[in-house]
Amino acid sequence: MNHSDLLRAADLIRAQAAARVGDTFRLHYHFMPPAHWMNDPNGLVYYQGYYHVFYQHNPFGPRWGSMHWGHARTKDFITWEHLPLALAPSEPYDAGGCFSGSAVAADGLLHLFYTGVRMEGDKLVQVQCRAISQDGVHFTKDPRNPLISSYPREGSADFRDPRVWRHGGAWYMAVGSGKNGRGKVLLYRSDNLSRWDYVGVAAESHGTQGAIWECPDLFPLGGKHVLLVSPVEREPRRVLCFVGEMDYAAGQFRKEAEGELDKGPDFYAAQTFFGSDRRILLAWMQSWEGEIPTQEQNWAGAFTLPRELSLDAAGRLRVAPVPELKQLRTGVVFSSEVDLEGWSGGLAICDLQSSGLEAILRVDMHQTTADEFGLLWRTSTGGEGLAAVSVSRAQGELYLDTTKARRGHRGRYVCKVDPRRGELEVRAFLDRSSIEVFGDGEAGSITARIYPDDPQLVLDMFARGGVLKASLELWELAP
Ligand code: FRU
Repeated sequence: MNHSDLLRAADLIRAQAAARVGDTFRLHYHFMPPAHWMNDPNGLVYYQGYYHVFYQHNPFGPRWGSMHWGHARTKDFITWEHLPLALAPSEPYDAGGCFSGSAVAADGLLHLFYTGVRMEGDKLVQVQCRAISQDGVHFTKDPRNPLISSYPREGSADFRDPRVWRHGGAWYMAVGSGKNGRGKVLLYRSDNLSRWDYVGVAAESHGTQGAIWECPDLFPLGGKHVLLVSPVEREPRRVLCFVGEMDYAAGQFRKEAEGELDKGPDFYAAQTFFGSDRRILLAWMQSWEGEIPTQEQNWAGAFTLPRELSLDAAGRLRVAPVPELKQLRTGVVFSSEVDLEGWSGGLAICDLQSSGLEAILRVDMHQTTADEFGLLWRTSTGGEGLAAVSVSRAQGELYLDTTKARRGHRGRYVCKVDPRRGELEVRAFLDRSSIEVFGDGEAGSITARIYPDDPQLVLDMFARGGVLKASLELWELAP
């Protein structure tokens, strides 16, 4: 079968599978495939009025397997339109799968760059390839593939996830790799998107930042450059972000600051959109480690909420959900001033059966004397805490605590907040099987999948060691 026949067959199999997807944990307002497995976002591109998203996808089952590229588009991040699958393994050079990559629009065409993989003996051979589309829906593989057929001396057989962008009249490609225990970003340059010259190692781990760097992304932001990589063999496995300068003459990214982009266990392979005037990011909201209860229901994986990146005056990276998400708000569940010491008792019922929830806690930090305060969601049946979002004033830290959850990752995840601010805002987005927490400090977000067996959650509030003066808003979010 040729490429388009293979795509049609896979589309058909997936459509049949969609009828057998269980709805217990299906998300209300996050993007997920109609059925079966997905991982990384791929080829994020703003093209002809739409945000196009592609994603690593096994259309044949709820586990990682034969990697295809799924495809969808949206104008507003609220309504998503699923499109036919874009890439299937069909050629000798990608017979083992079409791995992650990126997209650019040029000369009226949409170009996808991806890693073709194939087995040679017991080795997985990884090469960089391209597919092109005129209508933005149907893609033809470049007859010159693979465009890059072997890795340079500084790299290794782990050689994947091409990220292409334009700068100063030339095209650049960052490819993830690693050697001798150090993750690396390998840089290529091209004048025409088909012939690529190796430039050198643009950035590498200093030794404790992962042995392979997957899914690199490199882009200008607020007068600086930002490099994102997803490290293999680093604990915890979190997307790393570096702020610095890109020295194109030397082909090197010069790091000035570094950190983790999100502090939660279910955030990986982040990528930003090419061609949009804002820097919007999506990541895979799941992880390679741990159980995935939705597999019992014939699906796995989703995108995080779209997040807008910016740099603050001090050059620190900030992340916030895109403003479009306010359109999801369909009703107020609770809205009140809070003056609390101790436990509130059940404050509200949050029913995740038919819609999601956004909680906004605005804390008056001048009048608040509590050492630690926050919100706790528990299932009404068991009474166990499912997820707690809290702040320690003394530590200047924001926590997501899932240590009592029955399924999914259990842990206490931490990001920094600035307790000296007059007002501190914490936003938490709950969906049927996810929670995303945003502080308004630098790069403050925590993302985790949660799997409440009962969708009715009781919300309590607490303040320890003093008073909490705040306001709390709870919004129902429907797709
Ligand atoms: C990251 C990753 C990529 C690879 C893809 C395969 O999650 O391992 O490096 O291209 O997944 O599905």
